Amino acid sequence: YEHGATGAHPRMYTEMLEQPASVERTLRGRLDERFGTAHLGGLGMDPRELRAVQRVKILGCGSAYYAGQMGAQLIEELARVPADAEAASEFRYRDAVIDPDTLYVAVSQSGETVDTLLAVEEIRRKGGRVVGLVNVVGSAIARACDGGIYLHAGPETAVASTKAVTTMFVGFALLALQLGRVRDLSVADGKRLVAGLLRLPGQIEQVLAGGDRLTGVAKTLAAAESMFFVGRVRGYPVAREGAQKLKEISYRHAEAYQMSELKHGPLALISPAVPTVALLPDDELADRNLAALHEIAARGGPLVVVTHEGVDLGELAAERIDVPRNEKELDPLLLTIPLQLLAYHAAVTLGHDVDRPRNLAKSVTVE
Ligand code: AGP
Repeated sequence: YEHGATGAHPRMYTEMLEQPASVERTLRGRLDERFGTAHLGGLGMDPRELRAVQRVKILGCGSAYYAGQMGAQLIEELARVPADAEAASEFRYRDAVIDPDTLYVAVSQSGETVDTLLAVEEIRRKGGRVVGLVNVVGSAIARACDGGIYLHAGPETAVASTKAVTTMFVGFALLALQLGRVRDLSVADGKRLVAGLLRLPGQIEQVLAGGDRLTGVAKTLAAAESMFFVGRVRGYPVAREGAQKLKEISYRHAEAYQMSELKHGPLALISPAVPTVALLPDDELADRNLAALHEIAARGGPLVVVTHEGVDLGELAAERIDVPRNEKELDPLLLTIPLQLLAYHAAVTLGHDVDRPRNLAKSVTVE
């Protein structure tokens, strides 16, 4: 790994490496292995109130918004409650209908992002209930919410968010578990997910340990002017987060797309000059995703495939990055880590100051 002028690693690098410990802290004291559930006392909601929730609406900006999309997927899958995420920066301007049966969730690392804060205030002004998923204790968003879950990721100072994103995912998994277990999620499924969550820190460690092997692939991406990040359903927000990270610190154009939508337009852009980073978890959509990747390869598009150990890519010409298997609902977290590493190494290759990307501030607190 490259060192800065002072010999120290960039903060982004250190924060990426802290993820096993951060995730462990997010989980600490909140899992109930006996009943396969989570206890989130900070929400201030009893089982009856949790059961009364008809919808979940998640609001955040940038990477927090993408983590929110991952969270919405988790909540729908585990709790079978309709859930979606929206950019708080859009929500606050569109005079949204505030529904008393919806649980609003504001997600933010800093707890100071003005768009998210003003969305929270508007919801509460109209009688809605908002809980926070926030890292910084006592921050403005944390104070403005009715209750919440602290991420306990530890201080994050690099502009490019890493450990906050993965701990947000874990926070949403805890919320989904608790919402699920007051509804129809079985104790067996609850226990399966609790065990999966407990495996995560070790598995993140494993992916990070292979980080050096990604420098070659990162160099290929750094050499391209433009690229795609593609995924389907659980993989799509991961692709958005991967593209965002790469844009922020390498200044390369990266566009995230749903794998299912490629044939409806962007396939026209595929060429040997435009690489695609694809998420291919070994889930119920793997065959369809593999077929879409063949479409890209057939047009000469270079492929980087982030997949699970043991997945057979057949004849597909691709650089392959394997992550360990966990429960499929938790796949987004482990798929996210190699994308952070790729963005980091691409930026370092290009000689950029990873911790001080141009035009960006750590938190956007003014309008
Ligand atoms: C992440 O890499 C970004 N720098 C940015 O999108 C960030 O996630 C966003 O501004 C939200 O910040 P917050 O989590 O502090 O609210």
